[in-house]
Amino acid sequence: MGSRVCVLQNIGCSKSGPSLFENSLIGFLIGLNITKGWDMADSTERFLKDIKDIFSLTAENARGVMVRFHREMELGLSGEKSSLKMLPSFVHRPKGTEKGTFLAIDLGGTNIRVLAIRLLGDGVIEPVALSRFTISDEVMTGTGDMFFDFIAGCIEVFFRENNITKQPFNLGFTFSFPVVQSSVNSGLLISWTKGFSVSGVEGKDVVALLNDALIRNRMGFIHISALINDTVGTIAAGSYSNPLCDMGVILGTGTNACYPEKIDKIGKYSGSDALDEMIINIEWGGFDKLERNRYDEALEVNSQNPGEQRLEKMVSGMYLGEIARLIIIDMIEKGLIISREIKSLFMLPYSLTTKHLSLFASGIDIFKAAGVDNLSDKDIRCIREIANLVSTRSARIAATAIASVVTWMDHGLQYSHHIAIDGSLFEKYPGYKDIMESMFHEILGDPSEKIRLVPTHDGSGTGAAIIAALESLKKR
Ligand code: BGC
Repeated sequence: MGSRVCVLQNIGCSKSGPSLFENSLIGFLIGLNITKGWDMADSTERFLKDIKDIFSLTAENARGVMVRFHREMELGLSGEKSSLKMLPSFVHRPKGTEKGTFLAIDLGGTNIRVLAIRLLGDGVIEPVALSRFTISDEVMTGTGDMFFDFIAGCIEVFFRENNITKQPFNLGFTFSFPVVQSSVNSGLLISWTKGFSVSGVEGKDVVALLNDALIRNRMGFIHISALINDTVGTIAAGSYSNPLCDMGVILGTGTNACYPEKIDKIGKYSGSDALDEMIINIEWGGFDKLERNRYDEALEVNSQNPGEQRLEKMVSGMYLGEIARLIIIDMIEKGLIISREIKSLFMLPYSLTTKHLSLFASGIDIFKAAGVDNLSDKDIRCIREIANLVSTRSARIAATAIASVVTWMDHGLQYSHHIAIDGSLFEKYPGYKDIMESMFHEILGDPSEKIRLVPTHDGSGTGAAIIAALESLKKR
């Protein structure tokens, strides 16, 4: 069994995900009574129809979701209890005139990028150097010192491999987790998401922790001038060259978005600066007003952060493969698909990843590549259908969330809205963008033409350097 699971994991997948709960899942599904009662004759079709129903999000339901989304935004902004944290970022959008060379660290889902960019003004950005590093499971689940020393080590390697002289630099730090900021360069981590569980960091100022690590590693000459969320980096990168950009969205391992809010609508912000807008990190992954089905529940019960990040668990790349796997296991248990001897492929939690689904959806037979060639046409059709239902729901929810934010900013959709968007799910899943666009049209009709999705590859790192520029210019 183990070897087959590994083979499947090795097809374009570097991370196995949380290895909790092992095979207890089947028991859980049986406990939910969802493995009983199907007449084997035509039950596959009935099963698929049922799955289709419970994974659908109609335009009408989506409009209801938008009302609830607006309500949560309102509560979050005024500091009342809400599943949308609506976190002030202490920064506004750049103008495109900022200039200079800046460093950035982009701590994303499973990797770290260290980069230097040169801003030429007039919206022009010139890449200078870039190094990428993979974060091992050991670092993701180790101690805070280990984690921040690892980041400092990445910066050290970056200087070396790009022949950059060590000298004072302003650095923007993209930290893609929920943080309550008290200034542009300080912020307390609320809680880890996306499988991270580094000890001793929740509740602490991540800028101070990184700064300590830089000093420990003899790089105290680096000044961390801005701490930003990856969505804020994405909107900054998008709007540096495009004044119509008014939203930053990430659809990758995790999901989230930000937008510029008028200062007087942020009831919980008591600062007295002269800004008239501030970017708000929505943390929409936490939105909890969506209807969930039995597979969402099954995933939830066994997750590392039960009860949290509910929208993220229905939408983002970390979870889609797992939802599909739960459905497949259910079908195997009912004898509806897949010969039992290859059941082992699907037994390990998170062994089926969103990347697998994406490859499968683009016509690559991931099972054959894993040495399994006795899947029937029917099995393949079922798995394709499941992948399709799970990814379509994800794209439709993401579109609904974007439509909610756009209509919050512009109720009658009078203006153009360019949405800077990044993340592997959006970028790589076949047809994902098209599904989002047709959902905009279903929900909003012709005015949906005002919404344009603008792929902003690696925007989160570039955006951190832009915000670092913005902050250092303010101090002159
Ligand atoms: C985090 C957000 C982040 C998003 C995308 C979520 O898990 O809570 O802060 O923006 O992932 O990376």
